[in-house]
Amino acid sequence: MLDQLNTLKEKALRELNAFTEVMQLAEWHKQYLSKKGELTQFLKQLGQLSAEERPIVGQAANEVKQSLKEFFDARQQSLQEEKLNQALADDEIDVSLPGRLYQRGRLHISTQMLRKINEIFSQMGFQIYDAPEVESDEYNFQLLNIPAYHPARDMWDTFWINDQVVLRTHTSPGQIRAMKEYHPNPIRVILPGKVYRYEQITPRSEHQFYQVEGLTVGHNIKMTDLIGVMTEFAHKLYGPARKIRIRGSYFPFTEPSIEIDMDCILCSGKGCRVCKYTNWLEVGGAGMVHPVVLRNGGYDPKEWSGFAFGLGVERPAMLKHGINDIRSFYGNDLDFIQQF
Ligand code: DAH
Repeated sequence: MLDQLNTLKEKALRELNAFTEVMQLAEWHKQYLSKKGELTQFLKQLGQLSAEERPIVGQAANEVKQSLKEFFDARQQSLQEEKLNQALADDEIDVSLPGRLYQRGRLHISTQMLRKINEIFSQMGFQIYDAPEVESDEYNFQLLNIPAYHPARDMWDTFWINDQVVLRTHTSPGQIRAMKEYHPNPIRVILPGKVYRYEQITPRSEHQFYQVEGLTVGHNIKMTDLIGVMTEFAHKLYGPARKIRIRGSYFPFTEPSIEIDMDCILCSGKGCRVCKYTNWLEVGGAGMVHPVVLRNGGYDPKEWSGFAFGLGVERPAMLKHGINDIRSFYGNDLDFIQQF
């Protein structure tokens, strides 16, 4: 009987070791170790043995049962490990690697500055007006009092789509669109957006950049209103200590036209490299809306007046963060972008 027991044990172990699937283990367990299993059946035969043999075979059978249980547990564990390692190798996932940081998006520095500017003018009651980046020659130039023959066209190097269509060189054509839409009501809008110039790219000039245009149309609007709004804007963006300076200038769509400067935010007007020892920084161009432009927008210049301005967006961001190369804004360099 002991031989029988040994044969049983050997058979069970041979099978156990040949298994390649965890599923097969349950079957094996049933076959050998369950109540109806072979070992239990074997134990039932003990009654037929003599009183001397019974304890010896009984003990041997119990030892076999115990060792089959241990082998079973060990095989179960090793099969599971084999399976896991195989799955890891197949999927090429190394669970022991530290996790990768989830990248969080952020607003581009130009967008941050645009939003700040939008917020300041919104507080002063300006609506935000969206205008297209691809414009007609008519809107980009002619309706802004810049006829085809006029030398003022030289102020804007232009990307032409065809004879009639351009990438807008400034946000000013949106003035005409706003006037045509709001006529005959008063207007107080800003027009933020991208503009394009056919220019050599250098640390100081890009072929694409942002502007924020402003336009008011109403009754009795005066140059002092324009200066007041610009002063308030400088105070809100750079702090209440800032001073504004006005210089006479020329733009075809405003009359009179002015250039707005602000005392240097770095040296407060003592002279430094940022202001190139002039003590002043350019904020933008502005003026009273030209009568021709008012008329082109549908407003009678005898009854209506207004002011307009055009502000840069990258320049103030460069000043604020000490960025000395405008190309960084469009270089897609994450190390640069993620600083802000
Ligand atoms: N459109 C001008 C430019 O891009 C900027 C400008 C100047 C806009 C004076 C205005 C303005 O509205 O009144 O160079």
